[in-house]
This record gives sequence, C-alpha cells and structure tokens, in this order.
Amino acid sequence: MTTTTTATSDAATSTTSTPLLSVRDLTMTFPGRRARSAPVRAVDGIDFEVAAGETLGLVGESGCGKSTTGRMIVRLLEPTAGSVSYDGRDITHLSQRELKPLRRDLQMVFQDPHSSLNPRQTVARIISDPLMVQGSSAAEARKRAVELMDLVGLIPEHIDRYPHEFSGGQAQRIGIARSLATSPRLVVADEPVSALDVSVQAQIVNLMERLQRELGLAYLFIAHDLSVVKRVCDRVAVMYLGRIVEIGVKERVYAAPAHPYTRALLSAVPLPDPAAERARERITLLGDPPSPAAPPPGCTFHPRCPKAQEICRTEAPLLRIASPGEARQVACHFPEAA
Ligand SMILES: Nc1ncnc2c1ncn2[C@@H]1O[C@H](COP(=O)(O)OP(=O)(O)OP(=O)(O)O)[C@@H](O)[C@H]1O
Ligand code: SF4
Ligand SMILES: [Mg+2]
Repeated sequence: MTTTTTATSDAATSTTSTPLLSVRDLTMTFPGRRARSAPVRAVDGIDFEVAAGETLGLVGESGCGKSTTGRMIVRLLEPTAGSVSYDGRDITHLSQRELKPLRRDLQMVFQDPHSSLNPRQTVARIISDPLMVQGSSAAEARKRAVELMDLVGLIPEHIDRYPHEFSGGQAQRIGIARSLATSPRLVVADEPVSALDVSVQAQIVNLMERLQRELGLAYLFIAHDLSVVKRVCDRVAVMYLGRIVEIGVKERVYAAPAHPYTRALLSAVPLPDPAAERARERITLLGDPPSPAAPPPGCTFHPRCPKAQEICRTEAPLLRIASPGEARQVACHFPEAA
C-alpha cells in the first residue's frame, strides 16, 4: 500500500530507523471465564514492527488473538507482559491521563460498523467527539466532521442523521471518519470489511488505500483471510494460537509461504483463473484450532500439521530467519525452502 522503502524492502524488519510501532514479547493472559478454569493465553509473546506509512496485515483463524493484539496496541487493554512502543516511546503502562495526547495518533476501526457506533448519537456527534476530547470547540469539531464526511465519501448534508439511517458500508465510512478525526498516524483496523458485502468491501479497501496515500497513515490491518490483506498490505504476519508463525514482505510470503499453516491458509484463497484453481493443491487442516487455555506442547500447530515429526511434539520452534539473506521469519522446525 506504500512506497516507503524501509517498509517494502526485504530488509524491512531490520530497518535501523525508529519504527512507528514496535511490540516486544507482547502477551495477554485472561483469567479463565469460570472459577477454576485455566487462564487463557490469548497472545503469547509476539514481536513485530510497523513503519510510518506502511500496512502490516495480521491474519489468522478465529480466536488466534488478533483483536486482543489490536486492542493492546491502542491500549483498550493493558498487556499482562511485554511492551508496546510508539515512535520510540514505551507506552505499555501509561495512565489514561498520560495516554490522552497519544489518542490523537493511535486510532482503531472495528469490525461491525453498526455496533461500534452509538445508535443514540448523530454522525456529527460521533465524529466530533474525539476532537472535543482533545480540546476542540463544538463549532470547530463540527466543521472538521463535515470535511471528514466529504473525505470518506459520505454526503455532508447527512451529518445530523443517526447510524441506523446508513447502510453497512456507509456506517463503516463513518467509523473510518471518526478514526481519522484527530489525524492519526497509525490506525488499527480490526477486520474493517468482514461484516460487509463483497462489492462494498472493495469500496472500503479502496477508500483506506486512498486515505493512506493522501494522509500517510500506517495501518495494522487485521483479517481472517489472506485474500483480504493481499491487496492492501506491504508485509504480512500470520498468527496461530497467540503466536506469530510467519512474518515477511507480502510478495515473498504469498509467492513462497514457508510455514505449513501459511501454506494451508493460502491454499484456501480462491484463484481468479479457473484452470489454476482446478490444478492447485488444496491443504485441508484437520479440526479447529485448540483452545488457548490448553495449548498443545511443542509446536502448538503439530496436531493439525501435515509435516509434523517427533521433535514437533516436544520442542516449540522459535520465530527466526528461515533463509539467509531474507528478512522473513518463520516459526517451524521444517520450513519450506524459499
Ligand atoms: N475478555 C476475555 N476473557 C477471556 N478470554 C478472552 C477475552 N477476550 C478474548 N478472549 C479469548 O482470547 C482468545 C483470542 O481472542 P481474540 O478476540 O483476540 O481472537 P481473534 O483472533 O480476534 O478472533 P476473531 O477472528 O474471532 O475475531 C480467544 O480464545 C478468546 O476466547
Ligand atoms: S514445527 Fe513441525 S508441527 Fe510445527 S509447523 Fe513446523 S513441521 Fe509443522
Ligand atoms: Mg477479532
């Protein structure tokens, strides 16, 4: 989505300039939902960076910890361990008061546009609120809300309507306008198109790409599906059961996935050419992901992995560079050769 050289080069993860966002050993353990049930390690020590102006796609099956990761980054949740640094500053444990000025820079767009907008507030109020929290007057905030409606392709005259008067795609535009009100530098977009029809998905993705070009935003773009992020991301991170199993530049990961889980996810992405679609190998994963309250020993993917061997049952593979000269990292004892 960007031409930022540090972000798109294969050496992206070893860039020397300070990344806009850096997470280190980020961990979230929820207490069990019932008395005496085991704690849930929803995010299990992940590391990644996002450069200014780049898009990192974060992909994985339901329950692997994507939303929890996004919510920790914007500090809707406080991590139980590890750190989040923004522009070189550790923000992991800042108080709400200390976070307030940072809320300008770090924003979130949610999956379900209607349920993330207050049904009792007008669009004017929804978009103006983040500005008024930052100290704008009501008149200034309303003027900016009108501009933002125009920017995201909504009719500014509809500013005094309520969310239910808009379609799903339009409601997501309102969510995007709200997230942009304070001119953020990083937007965590948590499955921003999953709840929308396919044709509307493309419009929202186009809008997000255009806004990135015009405003220089960085995105952490969360999705279930590798096909959704293919268009938009510069790099992609694949998550399984709270851990990153593969991370690298988009072109490399899509052309030559190194982790068996990435290969399986990619084999489920439909190909536009029917002949290629018939010819390609489909990898069907057995069963559902295990519960993060009781992860399997060793490589947590081993019960579903077509390549699993003895060592996989006992030794957890570390995320490391798989092939010399390539910044892509893979957590597998037997990664596919690049
Ligand atoms: N507040 C909570 N208390 C206990 N467990 C939680 C809580 N929030 C999330 N979890 C658990 O943490 C794990 C990760 O959840 P999360 O919502 O981050 O996954 P996800 O990848 O976003 O899934 P989806 O694709 O369905 O949105 C899941 O097992 C979930 O049940
Ligand atoms: S470490 Fe073993 S079980 Fe895990 S992904 Fe690699 S081959 Fe499969
Ligand atoms: Mg989620």
